[in-house]
Amino acid sequence: MEKYIIEGGRPLYGEVEIQSAKNAVLPLLAASILTDEKIVLHKCPKISDVINMVGILGELGCKAEFVGDSLSIESADAANHEIPAALAKEIRSSVFMLGSVVSRFKKAKIAYPGGCDIGLRPIDLHLKGLRRLGVSVVEDGGYIECSCDKIIGSEIVLDCPSVGATENSILAAALGEGRTVIRNAAKEPEIVDLQNFINAMGGKINGAGTAEIVIDGVKKLHGVEYTPISDRIEAGTFLIACAMCGGEIELKNAGKENIAALLHKLCEISCKITAVNDKIYIESGRRISPKLIETSPYPGFPTDLQAPMMALACICEGSTVIVENLFETRFKHIPELIRMGADITVRGRTAFIRGVKALHGADVVAGDLRGGAALTLAAISAEGFSTVADLSFIDRGYSDFEYKLRALGARIRRVRI
Ligand code: UD1
Repeated sequence: MEKYIIEGGRPLYGEVEIQSAKNAVLPLLAASILTDEKIVLHKCPKISDVINMVGILGELGCKAEFVGDSLSIESADAANHEIPAALAKEIRSSVFMLGSVVSRFKKAKIAYPGGCDIGLRPIDLHLKGLRRLGVSVVEDGGYIECSCDKIIGSEIVLDCPSVGATENSILAAALGEGRTVIRNAAKEPEIVDLQNFINAMGGKINGAGTAEIVIDGVKKLHGVEYTPISDRIEAGTFLIACAMCGGEIELKNAGKENIAALLHKLCEISCKITAVNDKIYIESGRRISPKLIETSPYPGFPTDLQAPMMALACICEGSTVIVENLFETRFKHIPELIRMGADITVRGRTAFIRGVKALHGADVVAGDLRGGAALTLAAISAEGFSTVADLSFIDRGYSDFEYKLRALGARIRRVRI
């Protein structure tokens, strides 16, 4: 296990380059198996979730190689339709492979996916979508087996706008026969990116970013070189870091449109934000409490920024109420923040935070990816020394996290325990 050793209390200054979005790259990797031709993804983050997805592609028979930060994938020789349990349990996004693998091989087998433990995270809507497309789905002994003669376009009405179920349905339907319409689709920017990527491969998809997505199946998709959208959650994490530590930073490769909900909250608490083209500049302010934050599907406040935002609320003037509407157990960071001097009480999915002047250093442990990022931000802004262990969570989603924070002036280093 590895941990960070952090001496907090230094303001952040400088520039930071934002990676391509983890949540965009993962479905694009699943889509890469829809063609025999070469795919190249530029600015691809070398995070463990990506490495694990590449491992799954390797098990299926694909050749994948990083050259610098460009990842190329060739699937011409892919022949295996079974995703090994050990890899599926490492990463939730392994479930995306169902849609694309069953589309390519007419069969797919996968163990129930793992990932961060932030709630029940069922996959019923993924499977419902596949069944609507003519796929037989059998769940047995911890495995899901899918098979079909062909994918047949159909209407899929999602019970709730699940990001993953929307993406899985798109992945299965892109090479299907006829038209598929997904209603009550999720509207996240990463879904628009998946549409743009598949269309760049020769697909015919429209409507991503709205609640209705129309996919006209095509016979073949071809290779493409593509740069995925930037990571709005990484961008948000650095903006919150600056708001907490004080100082001024500029994000490069960061679109303001996709994090409007966060920017609005940061302005409310008196940060100064300027956004031009793909750059966002933030100057930290007085930190007046943001009062109420409720997570909701895009374009609402992202659940993935709930934990970092809570760390910020802990040192704001006044009280904040945070409601987590998407995942049941996404409050694992709270006991750790309390160890650092935060004043938080919880009732169900609602956290009541009374701001304190400053947090103090403590030894804390990450319980999931975004909670781990939140604890790191708490530690770099706190008075005194902290350690943050288990970095394997943070490594799932942030590339070079400590290098980027160090370049901005934070005192943080990684050590093996
Ligand atoms: C994706 C993101 C994750 C983010 C989440 C919400 C990726 C790789 N991960 O996760 O970072 O936190 O969106 O923005 O893109 N649900 C069901 N049945 C299903 C699927 C989902 O009931 O079959 C429920 C979930 O329990 C949850 C809600 O729908 O309450 C939203 O989940 P979903 O949008 O599917 O999240 P993920 O795709 O897992």
